[in-house]
Amino acid sequence: MKKLKIMSVFGTRPEAIKMAPLVRELAGREHFESLCCLTGQHREMLDSVMEIFRLRGDYDLNIMQKQQTLSSITTRALLGMDSVLEEAKPDLILVHGDTSTTFAGALAAFYHKIPVGHVEAGLRTYDPYSPFPEEMNRTLVGDIAALHFSPTNANADNLRREAVKGDIFITGNTVIDAMKTTVREDYRFTTAALNELDFAGRRIIALTCHRRENYGQPMHDIFRAVRHIVQTHPEVEVVYPVHLSPAVRECAQTELGGVERIHLIDPVDVEEMHNLMARCCFVMTDSGGLQEEAPAMGKPVLVLRRETERPEAVAAGTVKLAGVEYDNIVRLANELLEQPEIYEQMAHAVNPYGDGNACRRIADAIEWHFGLREEKPADFKA
Ligand code: UD1
Ligand code: UDP
Repeated sequence: MKKLKIMSVFGTRPEAIKMAPLVRELAGREHFESLCCLTGQHREMLDSVMEIFRLRGDYDLNIMQKQQTLSSITTRALLGMDSVLEEAKPDLILVHGDTSTTFAGALAAFYHKIPVGHVEAGLRTYDPYSPFPEEMNRTLVGDIAALHFSPTNANADNLRREAVKGDIFITGNTVIDAMKTTVREDYRFTTAALNELDFAGRRIIALTCHRRENYGQPMHDIFRAVRHIVQTHPEVEVVYPVHLSPAVRECAQTELGGVERIHLIDPVDVEEMHNLMARCCFVMTDSGGLQEEAPAMGKPVLVLRRETERPEAVAAGTVKLAGVEYDNIVRLANELLEQPEIYEQMAHAVNPYGDGNACRRIADAIEWHFGLREEKPADFKA
């Protein structure tokens, strides 16, 4: 029997981390031929994930430029996809989340009349400029997709309210599947700076910050707040693997460079990052992925954004929306550092985002959609 050709299209670090376990799952199914098309929107940060999960791209558009604009990413990915789709003629395209690669991949598939499956579908803030441009990317992909794989019930509700076409499945987030292989108790860091940290004797804060809407003043204010927190707590150290974006690196260097007990390091691979989070005191971040990973490890999170499309862990009490204002960030970090009862309230493991079986559900759902399986997979329930 002819196999169903499924092409996963991705290009940034978080897409790769969250698609890797799915690509593996698809490759192991008898009905599917699994192909990967990398846009290369990220280069080093993408290659690092491919290496860790031992994956290889069947196609690589290699589009990254040093100061890439949203238009340049989208147009270069869209044009590159044309010849790939012409040649490979997949039966289904899978895209993930909300990046420019996601949008361009879905649009290219639409131009070629190839159905699209959207992994991590239905997350919304309903503010088109926050996160920017991600909110618009994922909303537009919602209109294109025929299969929507929502991590949570609330995500699926958003899509139902929007009356999107196609089938909606509640699957859990594939990042929880990925964590099954990365987090290990006996893990030893390969990054010297991480091996030198005293996790038992010091209070280590893991920090990441990279969002476009935080560029400029908000990012300066966030970093000034972090500097103040470290300078007023001698037992605190901050580890910040700084994103390779020049806008972020410049700001981080200006505000945090050379400050005692603040470790600015290059991005680390995903195993290093997950094991750093598993051992830290708490997490400060504007990242999407970290908001899903840290609660599963029982680590409190302060979100350095004005809103979040991931309200589930806020409701569970492990994540607080700190915003981007200096005073509020300092206040919430002080609470975590100085009031053990507040720390304890936040530091409990919750898994609203998945049970580690998202990829199995997605693969089952694809089989069901194409008539290769009788039963629709049961929804993930938190
Ligand atoms: C992109 C996504 C964002 C996602 C983030 C994850 C868009 C519009 N944004 O934002 O949704 O949260 O990835 O990290 O799709 N760079 C390198 N090497 C790398 C990666 C990046 O040098 O491996 C530098 C390049 O100079 C590049 C810049 O970072 O131009 C910015 O990368 P870009 O993908 O445009 O934006 P991100 O902020 O990474
Ligand atoms: N991450 C990583 N190395 C780092 C920083 C983050 O592997 O130095 C991982 C992190 O654990 C998560 C993902 O990258 O799985 C999040 O990516 P990012 O913050 O770049 O994007 P977002 O999730 O905000 O879209």
